[in-house]
Amino acid sequence: MKDLFAALKPGSKDWRLAEAIDPDRLPAHIAIIMDGNGRWARRRNLPRVAGHRAGIEPVQTTVETCSRLGIQALTLYAFSVENWKRPRAEVDMLWRLLRLYLRRELPELMRNRVRFTCMGRLDGLPPQVRQDLENSIDATAGNNGLRLNVAINYSGRSELVDAVNAIVEDARLEGRLRDLHIDEESIAARLYTAGLPDPDLLIRTSGEKRVSNFLLWQIAYAELYVTDTLWPDFRRADLLDAILDYQKRDRRFGGLSMDAESAALKEWAEPVATIAQ
Ligand code: FPP
Repeated sequence: MKDLFAALKPGSKDWRLAEAIDPDRLPAHIAIIMDGNGRWARRRNLPRVAGHRAGIEPVQTTVETCSRLGIQALTLYAFSVENWKRPRAEVDMLWRLLRLYLRRELPELMRNRVRFTCMGRLDGLPPQVRQDLENSIDATAGNNGLRLNVAINYSGRSELVDAVNAIVEDARLEGRLRDLHIDEESIAARLYTAGLPDPDLLIRTSGEKRVSNFLLWQIAYAELYVTDTLWPDFRRADLLDAILDYQKRDRRFGGLSMDAESAALKEWAEPVATIAQ
């Protein structure tokens, strides 16, 4: 947290929001569906790609803020398997912007000790994009700060299909196909996110209340936060607002809250004692 205050103006809105955050209850993993670039551009009579270009700055600010806050992992949804349906010129521009980001931001990622990774069906990407991704992965592999994980050519369903196929293939190679038993642990270990904690907080910008095939397995107990802000307008204050909202939630993971648990214990103590007699 102190890294964050070093970047803020004392007394500013961001500063006040940061002061309200409980440093002991930060989400370990934040996932973001960055939506609304097209609408942002349309409202300004600009081509859609202008919205994507304007979407780079919030990526930089969000990565920097998560890093300064000491968040363990940030997963950004940059390109879905379904996004190939968009016009060729838009898709090409998205690749150019991603490559630009990777090249321009590498020194900053290194300074902040950010480890870059990506996930998705990467063999379907243009070769230069793959090359730039691999360069950033290799260059930042030794960093021990924020894990920045970008979903590219990603879909939650194809991730699950890939995980199950990998489990079956391992079993086949090891000659234990007949006794194969699949459980939650074996699936989690074969997801693209293996080794990362599940997201605690899923943010979606632009007001749409959908998960759009993103991290379907991993968000089982994530807290969802939808903001009407379009992605290009997403500022540090919006991220801090989302974290503050998350810290107000009562996370029960299918159980009971602490208060409800003690109330339930009291409520049942007497009837149970009577039955036991
Ligand atoms: C959704 O807006 C956004 C995308 C499909 C692309 C997101 C890409 C970036 C922010 C830039 C590059 C990414 C990185 C990680 C450097 P939309 O086009 O669906 O908006 P709309 O719903 O308003 O049409």
